[in-house]
Amino acid sequence: MQRTLVFLKPNAIQRRLVGTILSRFEQKGLKLVALKMVSVTLEQARDLYKEHIGKEFFNPLLDFITSGPVVASVFEGLNAVQICRNLVGNTDPSIASPGTIRGDYGITVRKNLLHASDSHESALREIKVFFDEEEIISYSSCTEEHL
Ligand code: RTP
Ligand code: MG
Repeated sequence: MQRTLVFLKPNAIQRRLVGTILSRFEQKGLKLVALKMVSVTLEQARDLYKEHIGKEFFNPLLDFITSGPVVASVFEGLNAVQICRNLVGNTDPSIASPGTIRGDYGITVRKNLLHASDSHESALREIKVFFDEEEIISYSSCTEEHL
């Protein structure tokens, strides 16, 4: 089983889309194994997005991510990283396909509602930015045999 970080950005919380967005991952069949609402520190934001240091959108991105509470979650499942990226859709919501989360609820790239890890290696690193190992819950789910 693979784990991935799904992180709802401040505008998802402001727009009351937390339940709607998390339900997309649940309904796909992924298992929620960690969840918390936090205010992201500048250090956490820098750590999460360090691959983008130096790009023109880096500072506006940090300002946005630290502008209000976010919801961090870990979903688990076979091929969870790719499945989540597919559900999230293109980085730019204006061209993201309808049916994806960004395609259905977003308009601009800067306010694209959520983040999902882009590889297994990124997921391992990014999950640690928000969660201690004991905050990630292992449990069996009765739906597993039906997926
Ligand atoms: P994320 O990391 O947030 O899941 O998004 P992503 O992989 O689809 O996109 P990425 O290339 O990693 O970019 C990270 C975030 O930076 C903001 N961004 N702004 N041209 C711009 O103004 C621009 N480009 C990227 C977005 O919020 C994007 O999600
Ligand atoms: Mg990214």
